[in-house]
Amino acid sequence: MDLFNKTSILFVCLGNICRSPAAEGILKQKAAQKGLENNVFVDSAGIGAWHTGQLPDMRMRRCGEKNGYDFSSKARQIKRKDFERFDYIIVMDDDNYRDVKMIAPTSGAMNKVHYIREYFNKYKSQQSVPDPYYGKEEDFQFAVDLLEDACEGIIQQLLI
Ligand code: 4NP
Repeated sequence: MDLFNKTSILFVCLGNICRSPAAEGILKQKAAQKGLENNVFVDSAGIGAWHTGQLPDMRMRRCGEKNGYDFSSKARQIKRKDFERFDYIIVMDDDNYRDVKMIAPTSGAMNKVHYIREYFNKYKSQQSVPDPYYGKEEDFQFAVDLLEDACEGIIQQLLI
């Protein structure tokens, strides 16, 4: 919780142009639809800095539009300060978890780091949100399907 009683959530993926900006856009919209937009601060970041300042990948933006979302955050790299600023740092896969661990300022800081699979309901057997970057249109859609499921779980578990 911050000064304004908001729960703060940072989504993290590798490049911050496909999965984590989609998660950010989906959670913001779902929270707003439930009147919870004042309860939560949502952001996203990448392990790498390759895409800093860029809008999400065009394929993910189009997939967002098809599903009724606007994915328009600008990419940035995760920084050590994020471990102070955020209550929950939610990663997409095992590689992200390992990489975030390398950046974490203390071992205690890792208590804030969660796998997105903890919030799945419909997709309980799924272990990660696979990276769609080298995939096809259906891989982007699958990422959005998984993220919608997880964001419902996040709202139930963390925001209500
Ligand atoms: P993301 O996907 O981690 O879901 O944003 C990727 C985006 C870019 C790259 C890899 C994954 N890349 O290698 O540039």
